Amino acid sequence: MNRTISIVIPTYNERDNILPLVERIHQVLSDYDYEILFIDDNSSDGTAELAANLSPQYPVNIVVRNNKRGLASAVVDGLRYARGEIIGVMDADLQHPPEILSDLLAEIQNGTDIVIASRYVKGGACQGWGLTRRIISKGAIALAHLLLPPTRRVKDPVSGCFMFNRQVVAGAQLTPIGYKILLEVLMEGESGSIAEVPYTFRPRSSGRSKLSAWQQIDYLKHIYSLMRRKGELLRFVKFCLVGLSGVLVNMGLLWLLTEMAGFPYLLSAAIGIETSIISNFILNDFFTFPDRRSPTVRSTLNRLSKFNLVSVTALAINMGTLWLLTEVFGVYYLISNLFGIALAALWNYGVNSYWTWY
Ligand code: GDD
Ligand code: MN
Repeated sequence: MNRTISIVIPTYNERDNILPLVERIHQVLSDYDYEILFIDDNSSDGTAELAANLSPQYPVNIVVRNNKRGLASAVVDGLRYARGEIIGVMDADLQHPPEILSDLLAEIQNGTDIVIASRYVKGGACQGWGLTRRIISKGAIALAHLLLPPTRRVKDPVSGCFMFNRQVVAGAQLTPIGYKILLEVLMEGESGSIAEVPYTFRPRSSGRSKLSAWQQIDYLKHIYSLMRRKGELLRFVKFCLVGLSGVLVNMGLLWLLTEMAGFPYLLSAAIGIETSIISNFILNDFFTFPDRRSPTVRSTLNRLSKFNLVSVTALAINMGTLWLLTEVFGVYYLISNLFGIALAALWNYGVNSYWTWY
């Protein structure tokens, strides 16, 4: 294979890591036509100068940006300068062992579009991580899986180390916020096949992590931005609107059957609840999840029974919250109910999006 390879590496104050990094990458790629492209945000420790000094000896190129504008945006800028048909992305700090590049490359040569170095497939790990960092990492991934369904194909969609065919992003507008460039590529890129290979995320040996609480806010902003761009925000709004319509059906029937047909009000309520569940289901099927419905009778009945079950548990959550806040925390019952409704709506959306229309 003689396709060209660019390894794009964002750097901010990584001077002491550059030489071992370049040497180890060269060990893996010296038989190929490759380049290492550093995108440096004007590091004050001489990272760019040191990298430049290596360029007679190794295929190293450097782009220096004027100020610190974030990891993901550095990679996007790097793509404009990278000449490779195959693009690799990794950190400069050796937390991604450069030797993993050979596994990634092997998968690409097998014809896979995107290959991800993954901490969360069998054989992968995070060395030296405390419980808090583990929970944050898993929580971040769960959130992406919940709100951005295409990421569900991948166990580690927030990995910072991956390789892909340039074609994947050829027609894409990449406008990430913060750190997670892979999330952006997965959502905006064109990828038929994706694979993950395990690796162990190593502790940093030199320099300091740039990760701060801001990155977590940025991550939420990034997810929100992708939801907006990919129509997932609209989907959530539609789901809530359908829920509101269900309230009308429910209340309307309760009133109608009790006042006009003379039913006992509890019977009217039971009929109202079930009817609203069914009307919600039909509306969601055609209006909220049209891209994820299968029209066969069998599958429709399957979805309906799942939706029914979820709705009943949501009712229990609503009432449980109402009771808890009112009785235990002394909150005014109408306010408690608002919290109950909000919690039930989130539960409803989450489980239905994962399970009913997946
Ligand atoms: N150009 C540029 N600009 N580079 C940056 C910036 C920036 O604003 N911020 C960080 N970097 C570079 C660092 O120099 C390093 O090479 C890389 O981006 C990762 O930064 P770290 O601060 O070491 O990140 P981390 O170790 O907390 O998190 C990394 O690992 C995660 C797990 O795989 C990131 O790569 C995440 O994307 C990744 O998910
Ligand atoms: Mn790091």
